[in-house]
Amino acid sequence: MVGPELPLSLGIVDEFTARGLRIFGPDKAAARIETSKVFAKNLLQKYGLPTPSSKVFTAAGAALSYILSQDRPLVVKADGLAAGKGVIVCPTSEEAAQAVKLIMEERAFGDAGNRIIIEDYLEGEELSFMAFTDGKTVLPMVTSQDHKPVYDGDRGLNTGGMGAYAPVPWVGPELARQIMDEVMAPVVQAMASEGYPYKGVLYAGLMMVEGKPYVLEFNARFGDPETQIVLPLLRSDLVEVMQAVIDEQLHKVKLDWKSGSALCVVLASGGYPGNYRKGLAIQGLGDIQAMENIETAPNGRMTNS
Ligand code: GLY
Repeated sequence: MVGPELPLSLGIVDEFTARGLRIFGPDKAAARIETSKVFAKNLLQKYGLPTPSSKVFTAAGAALSYILSQDRPLVVKADGLAAGKGVIVCPTSEEAAQAVKLIMEERAFGDAGNRIIIEDYLEGEELSFMAFTDGKTVLPMVTSQDHKPVYDGDRGLNTGGMGAYAPVPWVGPELARQIMDEVMAPVVQAMASEGYPYKGVLYAGLMMVEGKPYVLEFNARFGDPETQIVLPLLRSDLVEVMQAVIDEQLHKVKLDWKSGSALCVVLASGGYPGNYRKGLAIQGLGDIQAMENIETAPNGRMTNS
């Protein structure tokens, strides 16, 4: 099972498959739904799926002229993988111009910034929606929400997620079905129609605006930290589900979820998500482990967080 996006982008699934080995995750072409934001945006637009309006730029000059012609909050995104830092929310034109310079002139993310997307900023409630898919059948997981700013009270820089909870109380079965019908199933179908059948976990980062889901981004893998609270709620055997994905037999699987909720808090070294010291000991985990219904997972972050 491939956790982080980097080996997916390098084609680890293609290598395994070529050697007749079993592996869970999308191949290199399908993983572009995460590894190229332009690819994902073009797919969404081609199939008329809900996503904020945007423009793609390959030169800083044209991007800066566009920003000047707009007088509203924008989001500047590097096309490629940028260790979770390639999406910059810009409330003002000055900040958007700085973001373009950072990505395209200072090349803060290297080749990942050869192309950028400038997207309309949407105001709403964010939601993480993950599903298993074998390229045909799509089975949703319970919904989750992560806390992106580094500090309490929505303050500080955005991170990969400082905590998460599941399920999201305001997402009932009807809204979950709407997201499946309007986003997840059509995207999996679109990928197949384009000749890039998608197998693995599809993660949609959504913005809910007036009851309608808009796709902000996709991940081609389990989300972190969402997975730490979603999988403990899964009663079905995860290995059986993954085998069914690999064998394209997911239509035979029914996911069984526990009732109740799960919540996770991430502890990070001071300075995160900027520069921070690594290898520091975390004290007191023994006390926490003795508490009822609490687990600790003192592992390094492997995703783009
Ligand atoms: N929590 C978002 C991510 O895994 O990228």
